[in-house]
Amino acid sequence: MIQISLSRSAFKSGCFVLLMASALLALPAHGQTVTGKWVAPRRVLDDGEKDRMILDLHQKGNEITGTAATIGHFYQVEGRMTGAHFELSLLKGGSERKVTGDLMGNQLYLTLDGAVIAAAPAKPGDEYPAIERIEPPALHDVPYNGLAKTPPMGWNSWNQFQSKIDDKTVREVVDAMVANGMRDAGYVYVNIDDTWEGVRDAQGDLTTNKKFPDMKALADYVHSKGMKFGIYSSPGTRTCAEYPGSYGHEEQDAKTFAAWGIDYLKYDWCGARMVYTNDDLQPIYQKMGDALLKSGHSIVYSLCEYGTGNVEQWGAKVGGNLWRTTGDIRDEWSRMIENIEKQVPTAPYAGPGHWNDPDMLEIGNGHMADEEYRTHMSLWALTAAPLLAGNDIRNMTPATKEILMNREVIAVDQDALGKQATPVKNGDLQMWVKPLADGSVAVGVVNLGASEATASVKTSDLGLGVKVKSARDLWAHASVKFRDGAYTAKIPSHGVLMLRVSAKK
Ligand code: GLA
Repeated sequence: MIQISLSRSAFKSGCFVLLMASALLALPAHGQTVTGKWVAPRRVLDDGEKDRMILDLHQKGNEITGTAATIGHFYQVEGRMTGAHFELSLLKGGSERKVTGDLMGNQLYLTLDGAVIAAAPAKPGDEYPAIERIEPPALHDVPYNGLAKTPPMGWNSWNQFQSKIDDKTVREVVDAMVANGMRDAGYVYVNIDDTWEGVRDAQGDLTTNKKFPDMKALADYVHSKGMKFGIYSSPGTRTCAEYPGSYGHEEQDAKTFAAWGIDYLKYDWCGARMVYTNDDLQPIYQKMGDALLKSGHSIVYSLCEYGTGNVEQWGAKVGGNLWRTTGDIRDEWSRMIENIEKQVPTAPYAGPGHWNDPDMLEIGNGHMADEEYRTHMSLWALTAAPLLAGNDIRNMTPATKEILMNREVIAVDQDALGKQATPVKNGDLQMWVKPLADGSVAVGVVNLGASEATASVKTSDLGLGVKVKSARDLWAHASVKFRDGAYTAKIPSHGVLMLRVSAKK
């Protein structure tokens, strides 16, 4: 069997062209289809397990259906065959992964995550063992842990670094957050996302992989700088990135996290789908909620279930301090807006100790204009969303720093009343109003349109008394005047006007 695993650049190289040419000698025999079970080797994991993609395909005419399994994911497959070439959609819980490939001789050459791998016909025993279902516990209310009275603020590694995160980078990020004033502006949690996990040792304790040689020492370092330390796991056997999850080890892992000094856990559903359905979300999240409370350390509990299962209605009951209201954010305007709009129906459920989370910030990651990042920051503050920066803190432009550390906007997010604003739309202009603890309101007007627009904020929009006492533009850092019951300003395309207004009683 020829096995090929090449990077995208190697794919382009002459050497690969030669390989493909020789493979072409073995085009599918007349009438041959992709029907059958195929196994594509992917990688050997730290724990020695072999991650493979096992495809079970059925071709009828040009239509392909079937399933695909990796060590941590199970997909439904739909696709089409054109000659020897096929295109597959791997579908799972509303997300789609594209795989293209060619049938050559008795192999499938798949392009997957930028690499080409050869899948051979499966041999007997080429399948993942079924995961034994552990029955979810009966429901009860987990007591509030007393944390996150205002939306958590800090940094998370995923949006910028994904798997390229290690001990050294985290320390550098911590140092940068102290030096540039982010810590003092309130960004105190430093959270490692997926890909830190190693193997379970003989006692079943989860260890770290070689990128994180000593998690306790790293936690001590973070704490020594006056910051708090967060980590990531999954209720599944595997995480989203297919590292070991906490399935069947919830209490043990919570104790490990507590012993390391972990102050925040993001608990990501992904891998749990191999065993559970959305009907099991609440009891499964409750299980870790209980385990964290028993761990002996105060740990903020962040649920990551992509806004499924009406989480806002039970997130606080499982001990959650925040829960995702959306799928993953991307560093693009339309996705950022899509996420904040999904946050809207959840507004009544936000409050001190329990927050709706439209996902982490993309500010400074480079694919939106600064104007758009100012809107991103304003919308997260108006909706009392957690502010978890997701950029490379070591290299920030002055504009990124100014956006992330706008203390007047941060104060709106961190307001003690904990109200989440909801929008009213007028053409391309969307107005969000957030009541604040001191009786004033924050108001944001976002221009969703493609050209500059003039916004008029009227006192009657704000639910305040008749006369405005004072008003401040939170991005210009200047007082502004309401005239004849209104304040009027031009807003660039995708820009925002953000005011804090108080009224005469
Ligand atoms: C999911 C989460 C992301 C991130 C990745 C890590 O996609 O929603 O925020 O944690 O998993 O694998």
